[in-house]
Amino acid sequence: MIVEIERVGHGGVCVAHAPDGRVIFVRHALPGEQVRLEITERRPSYLRADAVEVLRASPARVLPPCPYAGPGRCGGCDWQHASLDEQRRLKAAVVREQLHRLAGLDVDVTVEAVPGDADGLGWRTRLRLTAGSDGRAGLHRHRSHVIEPIDDCLIAAPGAGVPDVVARSWPAGAEVSIDVTATGERALSTGTPDRTVTERAAGRDWQVPVGGFWQVHPGAADALVDAVTEMLAPRPADRLVDLYAGAGLFAGSLARSVESVIAVESDPRAAKAAAANLAELRVTVVLDRVDTWLRREPEPADLVVLDPPRKGAGRDVVNGIAGLRPRAIAYVACEPSALARDLATFAGLGYPLSRLRAFDLFPMTAHVECVALLEPAG
Ligand SMILES: C[S@@+](CC[C@H](N)C(=O)[O-])C[C@H]1O[C@@H](n2cnc3c(N)ncnc32)[C@H](O)[C@@H]1O
Repeated sequence: MIVEIERVGHGGVCVAHAPDGRVIFVRHALPGEQVRLEITERRPSYLRADAVEVLRASPARVLPPCPYAGPGRCGGCDWQHASLDEQRRLKAAVVREQLHRLAGLDVDVTVEAVPGDADGLGWRTRLRLTAGSDGRAGLHRHRSHVIEPIDDCLIAAPGAGVPDVVARSWPAGAEVSIDVTATGERALSTGTPDRTVTERAAGRDWQVPVGGFWQVHPGAADALVDAVTEMLAPRPADRLVDLYAGAGLFAGSLARSVESVIAVESDPRAAKAAAANLAELRVTVVLDRVDTWLRREPEPADLVVLDPPRKGAGRDVVNGIAGLRPRAIAYVACEPSALARDLATFAGLGYPLSRLRAFDLFPMTAHVECVALLEPAG
């Protein structure tokens, strides 16, 4: 089937239409292109497809730097075939569209490069490879359990040593995590070992559980801390709450600018690391789920930062945060659709969106990070 590619869609695809009117979500294409498709999935209301031949190319198309990117190959990247500027325009369009469709907002969005990111390669400091039945570790193909064998990964940080990992033999199905830190450490792990590595960001060191959460791009932690700090404009008498606190990045970076901080995190290893990282500061680390903690009617707060996982905070948590009556809320979001749904709930509770910034923390992939400032209406 030959189609005209109309626009970008959510999740690393472009949108086209089949002659019968069904929507087609097309990978490996760009808006404005004419491509020949291979259908990869048929559903009653839509199709999925790969662009296998480009008949009219977008001026923003480039040769993918990675030899494993392309139809039927590694699913780790979505936009290797687009220039970096085009990738950021596509991500901005996705954020704009999600905010419009799910929150009724019309917002100008610019996706900002992270300082130090020149070519969108060599940034991934946290990787998870999966061993195939032959014991060789590789990356998943798109929407598949099949493992693409690789010799290296161009978006991996140089210190990750992917060639060394794929040269070893692993138990079939093993999930192999690679952590490489700003202090030059490298940890290889399977499972959840009781060890930490030392990261460096926001002018200090942080203990982070091996295989646990840390901002992946080497420029991400600083960029997010700067954005959150600037948006919240903390004052010395403020009480701040850091929800989904991880190893304490935001709590620790803001603690000296406010009176007190409560950091809430449900993962025991992350909460333990946060307690160690924040021991010298006026921070209370609570090992709990955010929804449970909010239900226990905590004290009012002046400032809230939340950085939930991909599914977002959800209605109960948003209700609970609004109930703290904060002066400002900084919402750090890795999934624009979840952000948009939560923004709609916040707006209904008197906390409309005041500002939004978006960052290209995951070049070559469809992922984009947003930081939203919410302030009480009126
Ligand atoms: C996106 S990470 C953010 C971590 C931290 N803000 C940072 O930048 O390093 C989300 C964190 O939320 C934690 N988490 C997930 N669900 C949670 C819940 N229901 N309650 C509390 N923490 C949760 C995860 O363990 C993870 O550490």
